[in-house]
Amino acid sequence: MAFPAVNTEYLKEIEKARRDLRALIASKNCAPIMLRLAWHDAGTYDVNTKTGGPNGSIRNEEEYTHGSNSGLKIAIDFCEEVKAKHPKITYADLYQLAGVVAVEVTGGPTIDFVPGRKDSNSCPREGRLPDAKKGAPHLRDIFYRMGLSDKDIVALSGGHTLGRAHPERSGFDGPWTNEPLKFDNSYFVELLKGESEGLLKLPTDKALLDDPEFCHYVELYAKDEDAFFRDYVESHKKLSELGFTPS
Ligand code: HEM
Repeated sequence: MAFPAVNTEYLKEIEKARRDLRALIASKNCAPIMLRLAWHDAGTYDVNTKTGGPNGSIRNEEEYTHGSNSGLKIAIDFCEEVKAKHPKITYADLYQLAGVVAVEVTGGPTIDFVPGRKDSNSCPREGRLPDAKKGAPHLRDIFYRMGLSDKDIVALSGGHTLGRAHPERSGFDGPWTNEPLKFDNSYFVELLKGESEGLLKLPTDKALLDDPEFCHYVELYAKDEDAFFRDYVESHKKLSELGFTPS
């Protein structure tokens, strides 16, 4: 499939889609699952084979039925409403724009969005996304394969400031923070506090405390929200542009 021509008309459609996504996310309260969709489309990237990544392939049944994508069809269908109004925009751009808007409208930082991603129908094999039951070495295996760093791992894990786990989707249950529709640094504050009644900590969340390199960033982000937002913006942009060279 070809790259979209990012001309004035395309940029105008992006701005309209951005507004439609803001309205959609507000009316459906679906910021968390939209962020998760953007992350799961992008997080399959393999820096060595240059396959996977933010290319819209998650819209295909072959990929959204992977166990790790359980529930994401809901977000794919929400995005379809916006795609129908702005058919020129690629799915790859639309899903990443939805992720950026989800962070912004919940009080998070503004992430620069550069359009021009190409759609792909080639789905990666199951198993490229992290397994929540594993530890720090697994997180490194998965994120280094994407070409991302230790700092990216911790900053991006802060995405769990939004949303919750659903037993029927992942087998886990509950939100990470007391305000799962607010994007702030409370994920790190709660992580450092230890177990709290009603709040979730995945094995991969706890792994961030056990590893000294990871823990250094957890402590920084818990005490300095500006530092978290600064690093998050950088890491999220990297994630959203894996394998993509803006023209
Ligand atoms: C939800 C695992 C990283 C954003 C979840 C759930 C699991 C999970 C098991 C629960 C799904 C459900 O039951 O509905 C992991 C693991 C990660 C990781 C193992 C490795 C570090 C990330 C990253 C982001 C992110 C990098 C975004 C930057 C989210 C969001 C939700 C979520 C927003 C809530 C979705 C909802 O409320 O429907 N994650 N995740 N996660 N994840 Fe992650």
